[in-house]
Amino acid sequence: MMTNLFDIEPAGNLDTEYKDLEIDLLLKAVFRLSGYDFRLYNRSSISRRIHNRMRVSNLSTITELTNLIIHDRKYLDQILNDFSINVTEMFRNPTFFKAFRNEVIPKLRDYPEIRIWHAGCATGEEVFSMAILMEEEGLMDKTVIYATDMNEDVLEKAKDGVFPIHKMQAYTKNYQLAGGEESFSKYYKTDRQFAYFHNSLLKNIIFAQHNLVTDQSFNEFHVIICRNVLIYFTQMLQNQVHNLFYESLMLEGFLGLGDKETLRFIDIMPNYNEVNGNERIYQKVK
Ligand SMILES: C[S@@+](CC[C@H](N)C(=O)[O-])C[C@H]1O[C@@H](n2cnc3c(N)ncnc32)[C@H](O)[C@@H]1O
Repeated sequence: MMTNLFDIEPAGNLDTEYKDLEIDLLLKAVFRLSGYDFRLYNRSSISRRIHNRMRVSNLSTITELTNLIIHDRKYLDQILNDFSINVTEMFRNPTFFKAFRNEVIPKLRDYPEIRIWHAGCATGEEVFSMAILMEEEGLMDKTVIYATDMNEDVLEKAKDGVFPIHKMQAYTKNYQLAGGEESFSKYYKTDRQFAYFHNSLLKNIIFAQHNLVTDQSFNEFHVIICRNVLIYFTQMLQNQVHNLFYESLMLEGFLGLGDKETLRFIDIMPNYNEVNGNERIYQKVK
């Protein structure tokens, strides 16, 4: 016999149950149509983005939006973009980069090659920051940076290394707070609108699409940086992705997270030591 929702004693409010079911169906449609799986992303952030899209599109129910997503590619692309949340900046949280420079770089110097994975690199500002840092430390020639994101559009932008000129003042300040001592403007040329970062910074960077939820490990790294990505995942999904990072890190390799992320409640934590707890830098020790 078929069960319907009216037969189920809802744990909470029925309206909330229905909304949750509508979100489940929307996320299932998105997964079936695009291959992008947001079903284990943090529900409150996903729900906020769905409601924003409904407001902008003047829709009153989630089901109406699902219907449009199924029948009109434009809505699918929009919602994928809404979920991808690619806010970033150069030398974001500069103290992270300062700690990386002071506490991690000395331990990387002796390796013949250094492989760094930036997972969830968005439009590339974080990757260019790392390339500048490695260049200044005299290590870029033996470093390969793998910059990945699930969103191909942001990767296309990242490959260009072109950022709005009006952001350069803030980025220069971040760079200095991150321990940069050069003139930041030596890394780019400008016109009236944009800063064009020098191609030489790109020479050892490989950009590729990779989805942390559905794709496998693809190399063994000395460093994995994944900042401001896991914050959107449920605890269960964070555990899954941390297993992927653990598998992909060499022994004594380093893991860097965002300032609102931590390994503290993650199952794999006992296999890491804190290098700098405030800056969320960890080292794989077993
Ligand atoms: C807020 S940005 C963070 C950018 C950069 N790491 C930083 O901290 O400035 C989050 C990025 O994670 C990417 N992302 C979200 N879910 C992902 C997944 N499952 N696999 C790979 N990238 C993902 C998004 O597309 C977005 O570009």
